[in-house]
Amino acid sequence: MAPKKGEKQKNNKKESSAGELRTPKGMHDILPSEWLWREKIYSVISELADFYNFNRIDTPILEYATVFERGVGSDTDIVNKEMYFVRSKGEDSLVMRPEGTAPIARAYLEHHLGRSASLQKLFYRGAMFRHERPQAGRFRQFEHGGFEVIGGNNDPIYDAEIILIFQRLLEKLKIKNIVLKINSIGCRVCRPLYKKQLQSYYKDKEKKICADCQRRLKINPMRLLDCKNESCVGFKESAPSFFDKLCSNCSSHLKEVFEYLDELKISYSIDHTLVRGLDYYSKTVFEFFVEGAGSEIGALSGGGRYDYLLEMLGGRMTPAVGGAVGIERLITVMKAQELEAPKKQPKKVFVIHVGELAKKKSLNLIEKLRSAGISATEALGRDSLKVQLRLADKEGVKLALIFGQKEIFEKSIIIRDLENHLQESVPMDTIVEEVKKRLVRKKQ
Ligand code: HAM
Repeated sequence: MAPKKGEKQKNNKKESSAGELRTPKGMHDILPSEWLWREKIYSVISELADFYNFNRIDTPILEYATVFERGVGSDTDIVNKEMYFVRSKGEDSLVMRPEGTAPIARAYLEHHLGRSASLQKLFYRGAMFRHERPQAGRFRQFEHGGFEVIGGNNDPIYDAEIILIFQRLLEKLKIKNIVLKINSIGCRVCRPLYKKQLQSYYKDKEKKICADCQRRLKINPMRLLDCKNESCVGFKESAPSFFDKLCSNCSSHLKEVFEYLDELKISYSIDHTLVRGLDYYSKTVFEFFVEGAGSEIGALSGGGRYDYLLEMLGGRMTPAVGGAVGIERLITVMKAQELEAPKKQPKKVFVIHVGELAKKKSLNLIEKLRSAGISATEALGRDSLKVQLRLADKEGVKLALIFGQKEIFEKSIIIRDLENHLQESVPMDTIVEEVKKRLVRKKQ
């Protein structure tokens, strides 16, 4: 039914109103030029996963809220303030995942992955959603690349391996001025004592800290060390350090992690204010930053040990350690450090048609080249020989294959070398061999 005059005007107004026809705040389109950066990062992630023997796992974007309430902690900002709830007909309390570790722990339990192997090395990448205030390096939809080791007898070598992977990832992307910060946030034995010490340190400062921290002081005082609020930052430096209060188990675990890192020649600094914003951590926690250009975006990656998470989700206590990197932050830093932009590999040949008949036969020729492993490109929508040659030059292609009515009639095709501009006519049915021969010659 055609809209009445008034209705049409109303709809037009709605469509053109600000905010309706653009991406939601804090979310972005990923344009083709951006994909080259992403693909570069993904390929390094896959390469490292393969090298260190991690297997890919994917979990849904939607999860029951309980996964994060129990896993990440209902008092964390991520769960308390930043989760996107999805309104649906039947299943309520579905949320868009704000992170990947709790869902992986859920999947590990749901599919009894521990039964098939006592050690699971898993990696993933995918979109995460947090309703945060958008700013440099902080979006509402962003992507994680993550590595998790579940099982493995609480061995500190896996803490070191996870850190090593993120170090190598940054190095392979040629990111400079890397800083690795490490801390231990203890275990169920030593943490209660440390919390008490923190509470007594903050007791006479309670009125000066932010409202969130005043609340956290009672339930989760370690989170005060993570607060970025101006009124709280100043108190962090003189706060008691967990270091000398760690129980012997946590202390020797951390010592061993350091020994492995020393062995690997990975430099690190100890930061006793590093506590991470998720409740599932115990013992080792770490974050990677850069200094100088790009430093304003904060941590590039972070993670740590989470020995209690599987238990918090209803399973048996299972030692685990992992970390995740923010893909957008990596790209921001790579651009800020003016690293060379990844380029598309130029195709090997450019198919140029002259006339309608040749145009009709072009797709078949391209298919023949592709199935022989010769990458080919074209400008089939452009009819001018000059324009097609110019485009072939611009794309950095090595050989142009030119054919028109005469060549079709003679069952031949012209191969033009775009570097020395020499050209030669060859029989059409030998085109694959002739092109391969020339490409090999060019490599030598
Ligand atoms: P996370 O520190 O919350 O850890 O996130 C990991 C990385 O994701 C951060 O270091 C940062 O680069 C990026 N990131 C976080 N929030 C945003 C945002 N709003 N916009 C853009 N990038 C962001 C985790 O989520 C844990 N699951 C990591 C982990 C895995 N721990 C153990 N295993």
